[in-house]
Amino acid sequence: MNEDYEYPYPSPELASEHPFITYEHERLTEDVMLDRSERFYEEMNRRRSIRMFSSDPVPQKLIETAVKTASTAPSGAHKQPWTFVATQDPEIKRKIRVAAEKEEEKNYLENRMNKEWQEALAPLGTDHHKEFLEIAPWIVVLFEQRYEIRPDGKTLKNYYVKESVGTAAGLFIAALHHMGLATLTHTPSPMKFLNKILNRPENERPFVLFPVGYPLEGVKVPDLKRKDLPEIFTTVL
Ligand SMILES: Cc1cc2nc3c(=O)[nH]c(=O)nc-3n(C[C@H](O)[C@H](O)[C@H](O)COP(=O)(O)O)c2cc1C
Repeated sequence: MNEDYEYPYPSPELASEHPFITYEHERLTEDVMLDRSERFYEEMNRRRSIRMFSSDPVPQKLIETAVKTASTAPSGAHKQPWTFVATQDPEIKRKIRVAAEKEEEKNYLENRMNKEWQEALAPLGTDHHKEFLEIAPWIVVLFEQRYEIRPDGKTLKNYYVKESVGTAAGLFIAALHHMGLATLTHTPSPMKFLNKILNRPENERPFVLFPVGYPLEGVKVPDLKRKDLPEIFTTVL
């Protein structure tokens, strides 16, 4: 225990009221850390959002492990305010595609997206066609739990829901990429239709829709550049 701390965590009173365990941590050498950090960055830097998927099947176990990884995310007051709903049912995927395309037609063709937004999207070349929603073997919809409904019907608050669910989404995307799968962070908004199609309760709101599968062989992606470190990082020393 470190003598620097006047107020140790947990305090003896806290430790007598709530269980605490010792955090297991292996201290690595700086060389090893540098090597691991660079390899992880390089792996993540190869990730891309895919808009054409192969129809090759993907075992459910892989989806489940990605969800378990996502659910290791930190969350406000440890509420874990997320539900992942996965389907590979062709009929449900068809319904989702039809409903998503209906919303996206309004976004893209009826100017629900303003001009500035459309201009920002132009290099991506996205449009209202969402065939991949039927072709990808899985659709996983991440719902945020705006509040919690206990089995007895009592409702409880959740905290920092968007921050928490966004963090889980990032881990989900990283897990899929790490295991050799691809996804698209898709938001065919408004996404309320997903509650109906997937039969979700009213405390849940769709956050992101992820088609998941293998990229179609030879699939193309926009030639995007990521910001260099000085554009996204500064120090105050
Ligand atoms: C919150 C969010 C919503 C997005 N919604 C869509 C979408 O509805 N359709 C789409 O084609 N891409 C969508 N994207 C993907 C972005 O266009 C993509 O991440 C970005 O162009 C960078 O490309 P990369 O993921 O290949 O690095 C979304 C990304 C985020 C983070």
